[in-house]
Amino acid sequence: MCGIVCYIGRQPALPILVEGLKRLEYRGYDSSGLAIHNGSEVQLVRELGPIRNLERKLGSSQWSGTSGIAHTRWATHGAPSEENAHPHGDCRGEIYVAHNGIIENYRELKSDLERRGHCFRSQTDTEVLAHLIEEFQDSSLEEATQQALERVIGTYGLAILSRKFPDKLVVARRGSPIILGIGAGETLAASDVSALLRHTRKVIYLQDGEIAVLEQDRFRILSHQQKWIRRSPETVEWDSEAAEMQGYPHFMLKEIHEQPEAIQNAMRGRLLWEEGTAKLGGLEAVADRLRQARHMIIVSCGSSYFAGLLGRYVLERLTSLSVEVELASEFRYRKLNFRKGTVVLAISQSGETADTLAAIREAKRKGALVLGLVNVVGSTLTRETDAGVYNHAGPEIGVASTKTFISQMVILHLIALFLGRQQEVPIAEGQRIQEGLQKLPDQVRHILSRQDRISDLARRYCGYHHFFYLGRKYNYPVALEGALKLKEIAYLHAEGYAAGEMKHGPLALIDEEFPSVCIVPRDSSYEKMVSNVQEIKARRGKVIALTSEQDGDICSLADEVFPLPSNLEILTPILAVVPLQLFAYYAALHRGCEIDRPRNLAKSVTVE
Ligand code: M6R
Repeated sequence: MCGIVCYIGRQPALPILVEGLKRLEYRGYDSSGLAIHNGSEVQLVRELGPIRNLERKLGSSQWSGTSGIAHTRWATHGAPSEENAHPHGDCRGEIYVAHNGIIENYRELKSDLERRGHCFRSQTDTEVLAHLIEEFQDSSLEEATQQALERVIGTYGLAILSRKFPDKLVVARRGSPIILGIGAGETLAASDVSALLRHTRKVIYLQDGEIAVLEQDRFRILSHQQKWIRRSPETVEWDSEAAEMQGYPHFMLKEIHEQPEAIQNAMRGRLLWEEGTAKLGGLEAVADRLRQARHMIIVSCGSSYFAGLLGRYVLERLTSLSVEVELASEFRYRKLNFRKGTVVLAISQSGETADTLAAIREAKRKGALVLGLVNVVGSTLTRETDAGVYNHAGPEIGVASTKTFISQMVILHLIALFLGRQQEVPIAEGQRIQEGLQKLPDQVRHILSRQDRISDLARRYCGYHHFFYLGRKYNYPVALEGALKLKEIAYLHAEGYAAGEMKHGPLALIDEEFPSVCIVPRDSSYEKMVSNVQEIKARRGKVIALTSEQDGDICSLADEVFPLPSNLEILTPILAVVPLQLFAYYAALHRGCEIDRPRNLAKSVTVE
């Protein structure tokens, strides 16, 4: 999410920063900006849109300053705009800050700072950092930074430049990467190693809680225990192309591996343990109307639609809402009865999907309360809904949805928890769900650590031309998603089915050439899933089973077994989807398909 690059050395900083931003543009591209110290003043430029707009604005500027910080933004708080672009300044134009991450307590900090006379110019969470550092203006820049950060709850990768200290820059890290680049007579830092490699391969990865001071010929690191420490640089072997993907061969694989973080980001600051509920700031303004709602219609397309299908099971389980899920492209053809208090929830990664936008416009005409669950901040959908929740999953570059799908599933659980706790869900159950949610990042990491096993499975099975993906209840939507992944990435025919439907027709297709991927965790539908697997086996069909069972019936029945960690039944789809994504990825890889940009598809479908 977002990109930072900074430089202090002997050369003019401007071209170095612009080139670095271009390397980072894939991380966020709604606006960009930079601040450069020319020895006496700070020059600032910011612009909406991609880096080329910033370049256009700079024109043929020949700024001579040799230190500066730069940022490319992926909006989280405040719509994409010039005033929300980084770097952000304090009241006096002395201190400039570029930030990746989320300051969770920014509202409290901002009100406090405003009471103390600070004047804010943007809607971002980041700006509080500049004003907070300003509060400690009598200290050195690093001390002021350290004192300010003591008051901050949240995550940051941070770069700071001060007019008062032309010979240094300060960077800091908590939860969002900052890497130092050690050159000859120059020191750099960036949120991603790819922005450093044209200048140096000698790098130092800052650890959480550390602050570093960058000077032309040296750097210093302050540990989280406030001690100056030594650390030797390590040498990066990748070239800059590979570095953009942080060593992953494809964005899709990188994004699959970012899922533990996407789950954490979806939950960050949103779980209230004491009350066993979730807090969703974006829904606060409509909380009363939501409380009175009795009927919800979820509209979305593709993977977002499948997340909506899971949302229906979860919302109906935890609340008294009756929930319908409608494909956005079919919404206009339905004569949906909008009862009093109908809420429409649109789910969209991009916030630009034409069918989803058309559906919410129709819902608004009918007087419904319209909410959004969206990843791209400031997208059309966020501007046209009454309220909503952001994924905070960061940019997703691969056409196949992965980390945003998992994030949608997590947030739908949070919405259900938030509404359910206002109804009949007791506090203890709310806390049990929270415990389950908190286990997910590590459990997903565990699945990812076994990707070689899935690669091997995919290699052995990618010669088949047809697949069924079967699940029941919470895992039925994930079966649909698994099949979609295989179709779009590996160009293999795959059908997702509710396992109970097999006997009503599809079973006729089963033979030894038609394998089935079955999601069979030990849960309330386990026995029925085992019967379905038996029916397939009786017709010589091959079965790949995902299961949390160690040695139950399913293990002896299935041809292949991939283990799933145990968690609450309601949360298993969030785990089960990961091996399915990996299976599609490796099947595509073994078949030599174009993975990040599959044929005939686009990341954002802006036509109906
Ligand atoms: O941006 P959206 O979530 O509205 O996109 C909807 C679908 O186009 C999308 O989920 C698509 O199905 C996935 N990219 C498939 O992996």
